[in-house]
Amino acid sequence: MRPQNTIVSVLALLPQALASWPSFYSELESPYRNDEPDVQVSTLFQFPNNGSWVDNLALRRDGSLLLTRLDVPEVWSVDTDTGNATLVHSFPNATSCFGISEIDDDVFAVVVGNFSTTTYQPTAGSFSVQKIDLRSDTSGEEQRVFEQSVVVSQIAALPEAEALNGMATFTKESRLVLIADSPNGVVWKVNIETGDHSVALNDTTLRPAEGQALPLGVNGLKVVDGYVYYSSTTRMEFCRVKVNEDATPAGDYQVIASGFLPDNLDVTEDGTAYIATDPQNSIVRVTPYGQIALVAGGQLSTLMPGPTSCRLAADGKTLYVGTSGGQVAPVMGTFMEPGKVVKITLA
Ligand SMILES: *[C@@H]1O[C@H](CO)[C@@H](O)[C@H](O)[C@H]1NC(C)=O
Ligand SMILES: *[C@@H]1O[C@H](CO)[C@@H](O)[C@H](O)[C@H]1NC(C)=O
Ligand SMILES: *[C@@H]1O[C@H](CO)[C@@H](O)[C@H](O)[C@H]1NC(C)=O
Ligand SMILES: *[C@@H]1O[C@H](CO)[C@@H](O)[C@H](O)[C@H]1NC(C)=O
Ligand SMILES: *[C@@H]1O[C@H](CO)[C@@H](O)[C@H](O)[C@H]1NC(C)=O
Repeated sequence: MRPQNTIVSVLALLPQALASWPSFYSELESPYRNDEPDVQVSTLFQFPNNGSWVDNLALRRDGSLLLTRLDVPEVWSVDTDTGNATLVHSFPNATSCFGISEIDDDVFAVVVGNFSTTTYQPTAGSFSVQKIDLRSDTSGEEQRVFEQSVVVSQIAALPEAEALNGMATFTKESRLVLIADSPNGVVWKVNIETGDHSVALNDTTLRPAEGQALPLGVNGLKVVDGYVYYSSTTRMEFCRVKVNEDATPAGDYQVIASGFLPDNLDVTEDGTAYIATDPQNSIVRVTPYGQIALVAGGQLSTLMPGPTSCRLAADGKTLYVGTSGGQVAPVMGTFMEPGKVVKITLA
């Protein structure tokens, strides 16, 4: 079953959501207006073939970018100065990589499992969290030779999960990562030392909307200042919940903004979110007060077809975006291209 019809039917809602936002609210409460910010957009790197699908991104300390792929079980490194890309690791016994998050200096956790990019069906029970240790990679940004410097090991298998997706490091001290289980509508916490795991968050806002072809609830995650921020895709909601030191809920689940299709996201220390809207072909910015602004791209734009994820660099001004090339919903019904990494420079 193709989820396209479902998605196309909600596409028309974005302009409405933007237009109906009360402007008095923005003037009173926020340093930002919901005007489109000045940006420069360029392609940093693009795969050669249609079907390549960048699912998620993580930044390394040296400024280079790691990306996961959904169409193959691979993690790649992209040099953010030159756009040179190198395969870091290909996982055996799986079809796809999903969330990626730094758990120690230059050590990353990666969600790995089986998923079909033609039927959009995950294989329940096939998901695990793996560790990629890049500490012995001293090859420098150019001419990296990862085969010799990557140490890979399993953190935990999660046979109880239906389809793991986005992931965020909770706190480095807690040794926990949080992982979205999109069809189940829960967030797992996994101890990266012991592999112990259990459901940390379970709420209506995490569950797929009813009557949708694609059961996609909670998707992207980020932990900032004691809150777990998350996207809930088919509900078209961007939410947060305050949590305790063991990642259990400590307050109400709050909807910050709604009316667009959120995929993975990044959130700054002040609570400003940058969210990839996948079939809506754009990146939006959401203030802590819920005002939505278009950052780049757009429903009918071919600038960044199918943006799945974004990460703000340490400078706070450079936003990297990963794309699927528009595989979920080709732009204007027809336009597709290979997956790529886009660099957005915010003014
Ligand atoms: C996952 O996919 C791999 C590669 O296609 C396959 O070898 C493996 O059997 C699959 N695992 C499950 C649990 O289906
Ligand atoms: C392949 O994955 C399946 C399901 O995750 C697991 O049960 C099996 O042990 C794995 N096989 C190998 C050779 O790693
Ligand atoms: C990209 O990497 C190749 C080798 O992998 C190297 O020859 C080339 O100089 C690099 N390009 C840039 C722009 O650094
Ligand atoms: C989540 O909560 C619902 C309602 O309380 C419950 O039926 C369901 O089993 C829970 N899911 C998990 C995975 O714990
Ligand atoms: C990708 O697919 C589109 C249309 O579906 C086609 O126009 C384009 O040439 C393809 N690009 C590549 C690199 O194969």
